[in-house]
Amino acid sequence: QTSPIKELAPGQWMILNYHDVRTILMDDRFIKRTPVPRTPPPKFHTLPVLSPSMLVTNPPDHTRLRSLVNRAFQPKHLERLRPYIAELAGELLDSFVNNGGGNLVEDYAFPLPALVIAELLGVPAKDRSLFRSLSQKIALMIDPTQEPAIRQQGQEARWELLDYFHHLAQHKKQNPGDDLLSALLQVQGQEGTLSAGELLTMSLLLLVAGHETTTNLISLGTYRLLMTPSALDELRLNPALWTSAVEECLRFESPVQLDGRMAQQDVRMGDQIIPEGASVTLVLAQANRDPVVFSNPDTFDIHRHPNMHLAFGRGIHMCLGASLARMEATIAFSQLFRYTLELHGDPVFNPNVLLRGLKSLPLIVKG
Ligand code: HEM
Repeated sequence: QTSPIKELAPGQWMILNYHDVRTILMDDRFIKRTPVPRTPPPKFHTLPVLSPSMLVTNPPDHTRLRSLVNRAFQPKHLERLRPYIAELAGELLDSFVNNGGGNLVEDYAFPLPALVIAELLGVPAKDRSLFRSLSQKIALMIDPTQEPAIRQQGQEARWELLDYFHHLAQHKKQNPGDDLLSALLQVQGQEGTLSAGELLTMSLLLLVAGHETTTNLISLGTYRLLMTPSALDELRLNPALWTSAVEECLRFESPVQLDGRMAQQDVRMGDQIIPEGASVTLVLAQANRDPVVFSNPDTFDIHRHPNMHLAFGRGIHMCLGASLARMEATIAFSQLFRYTLELHGDPVFNPNVLLRGLKSLPLIVKG
């Protein structure tokens, strides 16, 4: 039996089992390493000084930043997005079906979450295609197989999008709407709430954290369901099963495969001591297949119950957008599988070790 807690190199640890991954995520002796934000290049000199986002900060900054947006991501608040998501999925599918199919990633799984975040933040309809193309370039930036020049374009797109948010925020200050950006601007002036730089990194985080991951859940889930026709038959007869099917897609595919923390002090785990300052990689994907917790872990079972997977993490950094992702995926799958679909060639996987996903999923629509 090999240990699920491994020291890979001095100061570099890896945790593979469910129990310890979960424990570390909930233990405040393990914290985030906060990077120093980059200064904007000269072309974007009007941007304010950027600040680290909630994803990479620790309390008290983390608590303050997260509490500002927490309400907008609660299930009750998200309900009002449901008709928009359903309409958008319908529109994207209409053109997919009219074309007889295509690459599901590009035509459906990618644009859907991007446009939902745009709606939530309050990006005006006229800017959505710019928004979509910038987020597409940013996604290429984190794909290690892309040419350096393409990844450089992604970096540039990131600054452009920050600049876009900066201008949008200035406009919304004068013309507030019923959206998240306007709500954040309203609290911005108050003492101890949100600096201009934090507002920008928050907007970018919501786009980036909520986008690629949900795209991957939709495309990987679609592929997995097509490979499991008996599950699809059941889901078509009993749509109430979509809730547990989405949880199983999350567990089985783990769109975010790894998480990370730093030990703030020496911590004893079993018979090992993780030393102060060590980096700890938490393998969420492996924890989600731990046979101690999940029976037949390598079987895709849409009836699995309970399904306490760690695909959204745990503890204070647990995914802010979990309810939104669940809602988007449920709508996306249930609308997509009204059609009969067939694979038209092999899917192409992203070779990204952190984010598991598909580059392409060629499908034809049969009827
Ligand atoms: C954090 C996964 C969708 C926004 C996280 C974390 C995971 C995760 C594992 C924890 C990171 C950590 O412990 O450091 C996923 C998956 C998604 C998804 C698998 C889709 C299938 C979304 C969506 C949004 C979102 C739709 C919102 C727009 C965030 C934010 C954080 C986060 C803001 C940081 C929370 C914090 O640090 O307190 N996500 N996520 N995610 N996620 Fe998601």
